[in-house]
Amino acid sequence: MTASLLRLAVLAASFLPGALGGIIVRSEPDPASSSNTILPRLDWSDAAASETATLNGINFGCKCAPGRSCWPSAAKWNSLNNTVDGRLLVHIPPGAVCHNTFQGPLGTVQTYDAAACAEATANWASEDWTVAQPAANLWTYFTNDTCRPTENPADSCTLGYYGVYVIMATKPAHVKAGIDFARRNNVRLIVRNTGHDFIGRSTGYGALVINTHSFQDITWIDSYRGPGSYTGGAVTIGAGVQGKTILAAGHARNPPLVVVTGECPTVGIAGGFIQGGGHGPWTTLKGFSADNVLAFEAITASGHYVTANAQQNADLFWALKGGGPASFAVILSVTMKTFPDIPSAGAELYINTTHTTDSDVWWNGTAAFHKWSNHFVDNGLYVYFELLPLTLRVRPFVAIGKTSAELAAVVKPFLDELAALGVPYDFTLKEFPTFYDLYVDLFEAEAAGSSALTGGWMFNHHDVATNNDGIIEAFKTVLSPRPDLFGFMVGHLFNPGYGAPKSNSATHPAWRNATDFIIAILPVTPGASLAQKADLQNVLTNTMDEALRGASTSGCTYVNEADPYQPNWQSHFWGSEYPKLRALRYKWDPLGVFYAVSTPGTEGWEVIEDGTRLCRRL
Ligand SMILES: Cc1cc2nc3c(=O)[nH]c(=O)nc-3n(C[C@H](O)[C@H](O)[C@H](O)COP(=O)(O)OP(=O)(O)OC[C@H]3O[C@@H](n4cnc5c(N)ncnc54)[C@H](O)[C@@H]3O)c2cc1C
Ligand SMILES: *[C@@H]1O[C@H](CO)[C@@H](O)[C@H](O)[C@H]1NC(C)=O
Ligand SMILES: *[C@@H]1O[C@H](CO)[C@@H](O)[C@H](O)[C@H]1NC(C)=O
Ligand SMILES: *[C@@H]1O[C@H](CO)[C@@H](O)[C@H](O)[C@H]1NC(C)=O
Ligand SMILES: *[C@@H]1O[C@H](CO)[C@@H](O)[C@H](O)[C@H]1NC(C)=O
Ligand SMILES: *[C@@H]1O[C@H](CO)[C@@H](O)[C@H](O)[C@H]1NC(C)=O
Repeated sequence: MTASLLRLAVLAASFLPGALGGIIVRSEPDPASSSNTILPRLDWSDAAASETATLNGINFGCKCAPGRSCWPSAAKWNSLNNTVDGRLLVHIPPGAVCHNTFQGPLGTVQTYDAAACAEATANWASEDWTVAQPAANLWTYFTNDTCRPTENPADSCTLGYYGVYVIMATKPAHVKAGIDFARRNNVRLIVRNTGHDFIGRSTGYGALVINTHSFQDITWIDSYRGPGSYTGGAVTIGAGVQGKTILAAGHARNPPLVVVTGECPTVGIAGGFIQGGGHGPWTTLKGFSADNVLAFEAITASGHYVTANAQQNADLFWALKGGGPASFAVILSVTMKTFPDIPSAGAELYINTTHTTDSDVWWNGTAAFHKWSNHFVDNGLYVYFELLPLTLRVRPFVAIGKTSAELAAVVKPFLDELAALGVPYDFTLKEFPTFYDLYVDLFEAEAAGSSALTGGWMFNHHDVATNNDGIIEAFKTVLSPRPDLFGFMVGHLFNPGYGAPKSNSATHPAWRNATDFIIAILPVTPGASLAQKADLQNVLTNTMDEALRGASTSGCTYVNEADPYQPNWQSHFWGSEYPKLRALRYKWDPLGVFYAVSTPGTEGWEVIEDGTRLCRRL
C-alpha cells in the first residue's frame, strides 16, 4: 500500500464505528514522543512462507529449523547482530562447560572449562544463577536434558530443545528486531524472561530467543490518571523485573507499597506470570495480578509498538491479562495498581516424621487441614503448602491485615480437630509490621535444575464442602501413582473471588470460587528414553491429574502450572472466555510468529520429529 493510500485507510478507519476497538500502533517505543496510527488490520506481507513437510499423510507448514536450506545465512544473522548493537549470542547450553565439546547445530565447539564447570555444578540448583543464564530453564525437562553438568567431560553435549541464538535485549528496538527477523525469516521465536516456565514455554528447539531480563525499570505513579476509573497509586514495571525486586522497591517507599506478585521471589511479573493470570499471597484479597493491571506497553507480532489499556487496543489489553503467555504480543512493561502495605500475621504448621510415622494418623491430619481450607480462604487467608509422603509442610499461612490473635482464632477450630483426632503437629505463629516482613521471613527460595513433569488442578468451595474425602483419595494417587513411582504436590489456598468477585481479566471464570490450586509433580530421571517419557506423561495425564479432575467439579486449572497435554486444555484454562481469546489470537498473531504449547489458537500446531520441528497442519 502506498503512503497516501495508507493515510486514506487510516482516515477511513478512524471514522468507522468501533474504531477505538481497532488497532492503534506506533513506530517508536515511547508513547509520549511518537504519534499513533490507526490501522484497519495488521499487515503480514513481509512474512516468509513456511516450509512444507508431510508426516503420516498429514501436510504441515513448518518453521525453518537449523540445518535446512531455508535457514538464514550467516550474513543475515550478522546483520541482525548489527541491528541489536552486537547483543546476539550463539546459545551454548549452561552445562556445556563440563563437557569437552558442544555438538551444536552450527558445528562443534570446544567448551570444557574446569572453573566454569565447578561453578555450574555448584549452582545448578540455584534459582538466581539459572535466571541469570541467557536461556536456561529452572525446570529442565523441556530442554531435553542433553547437556547437564557432568564429572565426565567426554559425555556428549547437544542442543536438546534449546534455542540456537539469543538476543540479550536491553532496548525495545532489540525486541522489535528479533520479532521482525523471526517473522521475515520464518524462524521459531521464543521470549525468555526468567526461565521459570514449568512446561517449556520459554525454550524451543532451533529458536531465536529474545531475553528480556534486562528490562528492570520501575517507575512509581502517586496518582494514576487513567484511562479508566482507577485513581489510586500505580507502578510501571519493566518486563524483566522479578517478584522480590518489586516488593523490595515497594517496601522502600514511604509509606511502603505492595503489588500483587507470586509467592515465589524469583518469578517475573510482566512476562508469562501475568499473561497466565498470576496468583500470590495477595490474591485472596485483591484477585489475580492480571486483575490489577492498568496498562501494557508491548510490541506486536507485526513489529508495531502498542499501548494496551482500557481505551487503546482494549481487546489486546484484556487478552494480555491472563489469556496465555507468548500469544498476543511481547510485553515491554506493565502498569499495575499499588496498595499500602499493612501489618500482617503468618504461621507455619508441620506434620511429619518428627511427629508421627503412622501413615493413617498422618493422612487424618492432612485430611483435617484440607477440610478447613474453605474456612481459611473465607477468612481472607492465603496458604502455601507442600505434600510428600508423611510430610505436610504448611509454610506459610498468610493473614494480611490481621493480628496474630486474629489468625490464631481463624486456625483454632482446625487445631482443635487435630487434637481431637490425636494427630501430633507443630504450629508457630508470628506477627509482622508489614506483609513484606512476613514475605522475607516465611517464603523461601525454591530449587532449580530438576527434571519433572508437572500437572495440576483447582478445587472449588463446593468440592471441599462436599467431597474432601474424595480429594484426599486423589492426593494419595498423586503421591503414589504406581508402585514404582512417586509424586508430590504443592498446594495454594486462595480465592480471587473473595476480594475481587468480578473478574477484571481473561482468567477462567471458575477461579472466582477457588479454594485450592494444586500442582502435581512427577520426577523424571534425566536421560530417560523417549518410551519412558511417554509412559510418565501418560501417568501424569491419565492417573495423577485424572484423579484430581475426578474429585472435582471446578473444570479449571492454571495455564502456567498444568499439564499442556491434558484433554480439553482450552476449557480447563479459560472456560467460556476461550472462543474470544482464540479469535483475538487470529487477529493479533494469525501466522503464529509467537508460539507456546496449549495457548489460544494453537490447535493445529505440533512439534514433529521428536520435539524438534515446529509445524502447523495445513
Ligand atoms: C519456583 C516457581 C514458583 C512459582 N510460583 C508461582 C506463583 O506463586 N504464582 C504463579 O502464578 N505462578 C508461579 N509460578 C509459575 C509462573 O507463573 C510461570 O513459571 C511463568 O511462566 C513465569 O513467567 P516468567 O516470565 O517469569 O518465565 P519465563 O519462563 O521466562 O516465561 C514464561 C512464558 O512467558 C513468555 N514471556 C516471558 N516474557 C514475556 C514477555 N515480555 N512478553 C510476552 N511473553 C513473555 C515466555 O515466552 C514463556 O512462554 C512459579 C514457577 C516456579 C518455577
Ligand atoms: C555479535 O557481535 C558482537 C560484537 O561485535 C560479537 O562479540 C558477537 O560474537 C556477535 N554475535 C554473533 C552471533 O556473531
Ligand atoms: C531428546 O531426548 C530423547 C531421549 O529422551 C532422545 O531420544 C532425543 O534424541 C533427544 N532429542 C534432541 C533433539 O535432543
Ligand atoms: C483416622 O480417622 C478416622 C475417622 O475419624 C478414624 O476412624 C481412624 O481411627 C483414624 N485413624 C487413626 C490411625 O487415628
Ligand atoms: C518436620 O517438622 C519440624 C517441625 O516440627 C521441622 O523443623 C522440620 O523441618 C520438618 N521436616 C520436614 C522434612 O519438613
Ligand atoms: C461458590 O461456592 C459456594 C459453595 O458451593 C456457593 O454457595 C456459591 O454460590 C459459589 N459462588 C460462585 C460465585 O460460584
